[in-house]
Amino acid sequence: MAILVFGGMGHVGSWIAHDLLEAGEEVVIFDLGARGLAGRGLDYLEPYADRLSFEDVDILDTHTLFERMRAWEGRIDAVIFGVAVIAGPTFRLRPFRNIQVNTVGMINVLEMCRILGVPKFVNLSSGAVYGTASGGQTEETPAVASDLYGATKIANETLASQYGNTYDIDVRHARLYFVYGPGKLPSTMHVLYQAMFGPLQGLSDVAAASGGDQGLDWTHVRDTAQGVVHLLRAPAEVARGEAFNISCGVSTPHQTIVDTVTDLLGRDSGMTLGAGRFFERGAPLDIAKSVQGLGFAPRFTDIRDGLADYHDWLKSVGQAG
Ligand SMILES: NC(=O)c1ccc[n+]([C@@H]2O[C@H](COP(=O)([O-])OP(=O)(O)OC[C@H]3O[C@@H](n4cnc5c(N)ncnc54)[C@H](O)[C@@H]3O)[C@@H](O)[C@H]2O)c1
Repeated sequence: MAILVFGGMGHVGSWIAHDLLEAGEEVVIFDLGARGLAGRGLDYLEPYADRLSFEDVDILDTHTLFERMRAWEGRIDAVIFGVAVIAGPTFRLRPFRNIQVNTVGMINVLEMCRILGVPKFVNLSSGAVYGTASGGQTEETPAVASDLYGATKIANETLASQYGNTYDIDVRHARLYFVYGPGKLPSTMHVLYQAMFGPLQGLSDVAAASGGDQGLDWTHVRDTAQGVVHLLRAPAEVARGEAFNISCGVSTPHQTIVDTVTDLLGRDSGMTLGAGRFFERGAPLDIAKSVQGLGFAPRFTDIRDGLADYHDWLKSVGQAG
């Protein structure tokens, strides 16, 4: 039996795949261009290559998606859905395409789950469902989108839950928040991420126009993955049809991240953060429901530990500054 990780070549999905493989599971990564690990920078998956398969699928190509999922019929324990165009300043530049990927794409996968009788579906959602609500958002805080990305996440939760109710699929939602860490090169991310984490990779003199007066609930990717795996494993009476906040649970000022990186490296990399907020989001999420209900226990609640771990990974792949 296998667990299908959609978006498993991505940041969060690859660490979910890692944790499942480490626990002895068979994993199939469904992703655009998923043909193997060569040249993908996912060194942490290499020890498990014998239990890891790849399906190169565009989730908007329903014919290929159906063919490739049908190849696993009768052997699918669960689907973890982590394909998305993620939040950021560029989401609004291609709204139609991005909404297709996030929401139509998810429905395509859910429809295949219905047809093939897949029993469990974990939807990677986001704290973006809370829009601009201020910090301390619980799962009871009203879902009010404040941007298109957030709207796709609210739509997905609603659609997936109703698929679950209508077709007897055990659907669960993980509301993730501001992920950083191993597996992602800062240079590939938006300007705020580069200005905060970039020196760990050797970047310098990046100026983010805003974000200096904000703190967010930056979550180390290993904690994000741990939380999702706990959600996958939780008994149905706890988790079926439910949403769980999965984040660090601590809001760290962005300037503190810049300063801590400077301290860790022993040099100033010339990063500057302009005044104001970069993301119209509140932080931190309230993670009590995940801690108490799922046994979720984030390890990197001190940003310094998370940054040091990120730097160690960058060193290990020859990308450290
Ligand atoms: N990264 C964060 O800070 C964050 C925060 C909240 C929620 N999330 C959610 O977590 C999930 C994973 O995010 P991530 O940070 O790992 O993103 P990511 O961009 O690293 O990974 C997304 C993956 O989706 C794949 N993909 C995109 N379009 C596709 C298509 N048409 N067909 C098949 N695959 C396609 C990409 O190739 C990529 O591997 C997403 O649902 C995201 O919205 C992430």
